[in-house]
Amino acid sequence: MSVERIDLTPLIGTEIKTDAATLASGSLGAVIRDLLEQRGVVVVRGAHLSNEQQLAFSRSIGKVQPQGEGGVFKITIDPEVNPGAEYIKGAFYWHIDGASDDVPNKAATLNAQRLSKTGGSTFFANTYAAWDELPEAEQQAYDGLRVVHSFEFSQRFVNPEPRSRELEFWQMRTPKTHPLVWTHRSGRKSLVLGSTAHFVEGMDHAEGRMLLNRLREWATQPRFVYRHDWTEGDLLIWDNTGTMHRVDPYPLEEQRLMHRTTIEAEEQLI
Ligand SMILES: [Fe+2]
Repeated sequence: MSVERIDLTPLIGTEIKTDAATLASGSLGAVIRDLLEQRGVVVVRGAHLSNEQQLAFSRSIGKVQPQGEGGVFKITIDPEVNPGAEYIKGAFYWHIDGASDDVPNKAATLNAQRLSKTGGSTFFANTYAAWDELPEAEQQAYDGLRVVHSFEFSQRFVNPEPRSRELEFWQMRTPKTHPLVWTHRSGRKSLVLGSTAHFVEGMDHAEGRMLLNRLREWATQPRFVYRHDWTEGDLLIWDNTGTMHRVDPYPLEEQRLMHRTTIEAEEQLI
């Protein structure tokens, strides 16, 4: 099935024109999977999907993780709505979801329920493009390096002085070592970076931290980035294996709320 598409920047982000019923029917699943791999982010403006429609659509692009209420997880920084709200503030910094898991999830969908008047724009960086455009000598130097990703390290951005009970909770998610350069099943390569990236294995600590910092700066240059300014009802889908993302901070009292579904990992991180 074909669909009207508008590329939002040269290297990342495509908007498609469709509606909730078509998305929920699953007829665009294959088209959107292809677009995700090519463009990192797919946007449907004002789609206003119900939870059931969001789930039905999500099943057309992959296997939905059993998170939240029947697969729909509420993204809010209000602890009265979500007891894990504090950890969600980690999203204010560039990251890949699930980077301290064995393999980060394949993709995710966000359905804008309630927005804040200020802040709350979401930014995505194309880590395939960032790899492709590195000079060849740098590509050769980095391919083969391994990076330790730590949930604790990423949470310290948000809360530098945790209580011991909290630190204990962070440390229950043990650090994972991933290649800096992900060679996908397709043969394409992407950079694996973000706020969980703690240090480079076997490299002088300061030198490794500097490398990770320089690569984050490289990968988040404006030409690799799409910024989404939300309107209520927008549906946004991203390929979590070939992008990083972050959200601009927003005030708690405005009760911004997103409904997210998460598509399970489908390939090894090698
Ligand atoms: Fe995230």
